Amino acid sequence: MRMENRIGLVTAAASGMGRAGAIRFAREGAKVAVVDIDADGVDAVVKQITDAGGEAIGLTGDLTDDAFSKSIVHDTVAAFGGIDFAWLHAGHPGPAKVEGMDMATWDIAVDLNLRTIALTTAEALPEMRKRDNAALLYTASIAGIKGSDRSPVYSAMKFGVVGWTRSLAQRVAKDGIRANVICPGGVDTPMLRTFVARPDQDSTQGMDVEEVLATRRAAYPLGRPSQPDEQANAALFLLSSEASYVSGSVLAVDGAMTA
Ligand SMILES: NC(=O)c1ccc[n+]([C@@H]2O[C@H](COP(=O)([O-])OP(=O)(O)OC[C@H]3O[C@@H](n4cnc5c(N)ncnc54)[C@H](O)[C@@H]3O)[C@@H](O)[C@H]2O)c1
Repeated sequence: MRMENRIGLVTAAASGMGRAGAIRFAREGAKVAVVDIDADGVDAVVKQITDAGGEAIGLTGDLTDDAFSKSIVHDTVAAFGGIDFAWLHAGHPGPAKVEGMDMATWDIAVDLNLRTIALTTAEALPEMRKRDNAALLYTASIAGIKGSDRSPVYSAMKFGVVGWTRSLAQRVAKDGIRANVICPGGVDTPMLRTFVARPDQDSTQGMDVEEVLATRRAAYPLGRPSQPDEQANAALFLLSSEASYVSGSVLAVDGAMTA
């Protein structure tokens, strides 16, 4: 098993990639704290893990709440005796508009893309210094590698996640802690539908979301968006000891989209 006895937490783990990651890490022997605002979703993921013989706890709360972003580290340590890894995966699309931008949505996006990861990281570092090969993983996007005309706010924040990761990796290397970031292209999750449903100026106006998704398939070099498990596989590698010399990396998991 590739994560035997490793202890960690995954945020936004009730759905999509986070869910796939939590289940995958547990199957590889990890003890996992499943963190999300969706209580039913958290319970379902914990049940799926424990029914399969794995170990998991659920931590339900709102990651725009500073106290919750901090407490998830301490609750994980209290439950399992330490913390070796964290996939701080939660994020938010932000407002689509530039002119007429909704600043309340901007604030939520800053909280979920940047503020929560900084707060959780700050709490995790002292605990991770006590462990061997501790690893942090963040989720940016292809919009954190190249600009996105449809989502400039999201892109600004995901470039921020990349900058955070690269800087942090340098800062904590002396402590033996690694930090990496994955940059998914389109992934078949509810959030992809949020992006696709955005009003834009192209020929997709007036189509429903599933129609737009079908139209856009041609834009993927591999002919399709990725499945959550394909992102979880990359996360598994980066958080496991197999990646013991990989830190500060920005891994595009985008089927050649940014190549
Ligand atoms: N899906 C894509 O195409 C795509 C592509 C690139 C990057 N990403 C990034 O991946 C991450 C999540 O994407 P996904 O597609 O796996 O998501 P998803 O839509 O499948 O799930 C998002 C999860 O976040 C939880 N959540 C929302 N607000 C929360 C809050 N305030 N506190 C705690 N949990 C909250 C939801 O309950 C849900 O379970 C984000 O960082 C996103 O920017 C997604």
